[in-house]
Amino acid sequence: DKSYPTDFVLFGARGDLSMRKLLPSLFQLHRNDLLNAETRIIGVARDCKSVEAFRDEVSATLNRYVKPADLKGSACADFLQRVEFVELEFTEDAGYQALAELIDHEQRVMVNYLATPPAFFGEICQRLDAAGAISDTSRIILEKPIGHDLETSIVINDTVCKYFDESRIYRIDHYLGKETVQNLIALRFANNLFGSQWNQNHIDHVQITVAETVGIEGRWSYYDKVGQMRDMVQNHLLQLLCMVAMDPPSQLTADGIRDEKLKVLRALRPIAAEDVFKRAVRGQYTAGAIQGQGCPGYTEEEGSKGKSNTETFVALRLNIDNWRWAGTPFYLRTGKRMPTKMSEIVVVYRNQPHYIFDPKQKSMVTNKLIIRLQPDEGIRLQVVTKEQSLDKRMALQSRGLHLNFSEGEEDRRTPDAYERLILEALRGNQSLFVRRDEVEASWQWCDGLIKAWYDSGDEVRPYSAGSWGPIGSIALIERDGRSWHEG
Ligand code: BG6
Repeated sequence: DKSYPTDFVLFGARGDLSMRKLLPSLFQLHRNDLLNAETRIIGVARDCKSVEAFRDEVSATLNRYVKPADLKGSACADFLQRVEFVELEFTEDAGYQALAELIDHEQRVMVNYLATPPAFFGEICQRLDAAGAISDTSRIILEKPIGHDLETSIVINDTVCKYFDESRIYRIDHYLGKETVQNLIALRFANNLFGSQWNQNHIDHVQITVAETVGIEGRWSYYDKVGQMRDMVQNHLLQLLCMVAMDPPSQLTADGIRDEKLKVLRALRPIAAEDVFKRAVRGQYTAGAIQGQGCPGYTEEEGSKGKSNTETFVALRLNIDNWRWAGTPFYLRTGKRMPTKMSEIVVVYRNQPHYIFDPKQKSMVTNKLIIRLQPDEGIRLQVVTKEQSLDKRMALQSRGLHLNFSEGEEDRRTPDAYERLILEALRGNQSLFVRRDEVEASWQWCDGLIKAWYDSGDEVRPYSAGSWGPIGSIALIERDGRSWHEG
């Protein structure tokens, strides 16, 4: 189903995110006939003189980031016809007037996408309103991060909420747009096999890993103030945790899902300064190699200002204090410059209450459910079976039942998370977006941990680029008699 006729206003239209992700995603929606014929894309940025010049930039970015086969025919030229441009300095009135004149509230819904630093969110809203550019049907999409901590996120949310009702605010966490994250809802709530066992009676522990091979990609001055905790854990990893741990919503509505996620965030046990050593390890990469390619250390990266105590890796042992998860820890880890780019959730089931096989085989974990978000999206269920042999002892082995989501659909393109998110925002569906109270609950918990690190005088622990993080992250899980799943 197509979205409404929309004026999609893209602030920061010439920035990296717009060029790499947002404009190619809008193009794919156009190419797949998911945009209304009347929808326009209005780029807003500074230092570009005309709509023609902006269209040239859009054309160049599509040629760079979209597969040539998808650009065949008239799709690209037709898409460019939708593109308009307004030159605008975020902090000056002039451009907002021009934008207000271009917007057509009678014919189209205005959807603003702020792909800008969060420091501008409040001011852009206030100036849009002052110029009479928004109406009470207008929506706003906010890119992460929403602030730097609880206090700054409250200021941003308070300001944006003055001009846009919560029902018209779409806070992006692009992990929620990933196909397999969406599939978690189907897996958990459409399969009694998993749904009925999804609790501390049956699950020993859960692991969530989000590993990247990239470093900080030329963003040292931004990243050094933020670190992996604020850049990845506060949003992506805690959202994944919520999707795994939440109770079933009674209805599949935006607030049904978000109410349940919020309860998980509120049940997260705080980590105190004296627990940091055992429950929250921070690391920073030093020089090393990934797949044979040498990489500099974090403090030698381009733009570095030398010594830094900012973490590029975090490993956590979390407890969710509720009936479903009491006694079942969640281990999370995420880092830059890991050996491979890989995100997965591993659900490790408990062993049987009484063991009848050869005790030597007892260490073999009974069942694991491995949910692979990227690459090779799919699910693998590890089961224990008998080895095929005439041997009279019952020799066991661990085998995998494998469901590859793209099997049989190799020709089908996997849509980027941003395509799904933009489309849902155009359709007015908030399910895949983060509500204000979720952002704030998540900051509250993260602020507590960041303070605990600070109070305990915690120093980042070094790990070589291309390794799985500092030794402390392995000790964090092995201390509990468990180990990280090796894919
Ligand atoms: C972004 C972070 O939100 O997510 C980046 O700011 C990170 O630092 C990126 O590299 C990872 O996203 P993905 O989809 O490539 O796993």
